[in-house]
Amino acid sequence: MKISIDIHVNGEQYPAEVEPRTTLLEFLRGTLHLTGTKEGCGLGDCGTCIVLLDGKPVNSCLVLAVDANGRRVTTIEGLAEDGKLHPVQQSFIDNGAVQCGFCTPAMILTTKALLDKNPDPAEGEIKQALGGILCRCGSYQKILNSVQAVGKGERK
Ligand code: FES
Ligand code: FES
Repeated sequence: MKISIDIHVNGEQYPAEVEPRTTLLEFLRGTLHLTGTKEGCGLGDCGTCIVLLDGKPVNSCLVLAVDANGRRVTTIEGLAEDGKLHPVQQSFIDNGAVQCGFCTPAMILTTKALLDKNPDPAEGEIKQALGGILCRCGSYQKILNSVQAVGKGERK
């Protein structure tokens, strides 16, 4: 049995039919081919599958697509505007925070959500916000530098 859903992803509506057990991660990657969202553990442990659901970071491997019905999803593909990278994306590049890039979409989306709430967070708040995302490359210091650079008003 399939269920009808209609999810707003990166500014577009996507009506679809999904199995009840399809995760939001599977829907984004498998159906919409938005492969910027990464699957690490698939169990809610690594944070690399984070997307924004109504502006808040969620592990998309733990959210069913049917539970995102009628809601607003932002993935990494939705951040650039008019061909210009989002300031957080630009800061990660400028500060050399992208190594293999596997954790980067989750780090950037979570940073965006944090800065939308608090434009100049303290170091402890940044660490707490990003603490659930595993960076296998150990780029934590450069990621922290990137977030602080945006918070210090380098956002354009
Ligand atoms: S893939 Fe979702 S938390 Fe690891
Ligand atoms: S840059 Fe490779 S996992 Fe973070």
